[in-house]
Amino acid sequence: MPTDPTSPYLPFGDNTHAPWYGKDILSVNQFNRDDLGYVFGVAHEMRGMVERVGTFDLLKGKILANLFYEPSTRTSSSFTAAMERLGGSVIPINEVKYSSVSKGESLPDTIRTLECYVDVIVLRHPEVGSAAIAAQAARKPVINAGDGIGEHPTQALLDTFTIFEELGEGVVDGLTVTMLGDLKYGRTVHSLARLLSLYKVKLNYVSPDILRMPKEVMDEVAEKGIPQDEYTSLEEVLPETDVLYVTRVQKERFEDPAVYEGARGAFLINPEIMQAARKEMIVMHPLPRVGEISTDFDGDPRAAYFRQMEYGLYVRMALLAMVLGKA
Ligand code: NCD
Repeated sequence: MPTDPTSPYLPFGDNTHAPWYGKDILSVNQFNRDDLGYVFGVAHEMRGMVERVGTFDLLKGKILANLFYEPSTRTSSSFTAAMERLGGSVIPINEVKYSSVSKGESLPDTIRTLECYVDVIVLRHPEVGSAAIAAQAARKPVINAGDGIGEHPTQALLDTFTIFEELGEGVVDGLTVTMLGDLKYGRTVHSLARLLSLYKVKLNYVSPDILRMPKEVMDEVAEKGIPQDEYTSLEEVLPETDVLYVTRVQKERFEDPAVYEGARGAFLINPEIMQAARKEMIVMHPLPRVGEISTDFDGDPRAAYFRQMEYGLYVRMALLAMVLGKA
């Protein structure tokens, strides 16, 4: 089993009494600050191991089912890469139309089927609460990879890890984070606002009026004593922003295409706009982008969205190792 002698964290190995062994990851509300320190410590280790040896055998013999009822590029392929870099293997089910789902099989039955063959299930599904339903049906760990407009906890974990790695762990308390775009339907910002409320951040929400952050998320964040302000234009808050988190308008969630057409294109991040921002800040995006950030900005050192994807690999490696009792 590979171990890093210089590591300040737990060595890799059998750790089946660890608190995350066998657990589901359904919501960011399962994590406190200590947990995040632990996840990011393991993720940091994973980064070092990938850089040094590429692939290693921590999860050799373990199998992951990647069950995706909604489209995905990054989440599904980074979970696959994470499992394979740890020596495990993957059953990908990303075209549910070719599976028994198209015959009308229920989610709990599909989950019960897969867990006969695998050790952990990653699920993306269009309905809020679907991951919790799957977890109830399953004996094996279920990881929520997005439940409709509900949550996307592994994305929020990788987003927060990105902030730690890019700006420094010590500075998270005191940061101003501005979330921009579709805050109503964007599950990544629902999870990220909740997770960042573990720190003493200031949150700005910038969106068209019809796409404001849901009240229940704002209420939860307010309970933690986190200041939150809402805006319809970016101008006022850009100069004070340390992290600008841009999101796409979630076309697939709109019942009326005309409403979507009216809402998209409200914001565009480009080099000219970014002249008003700090030099030492970062721009993040969970991706895919569909016109919110001009490609002209990609070469700017503040453009962190491609690096953010790579951090996702290490965080997902850490989570898989944790729930399978190896970290
Ligand atoms: C996000 C998602 O699926 O919620 N994508 C991702 O996982 N990186 C964001 C989006 O689709 O806009």
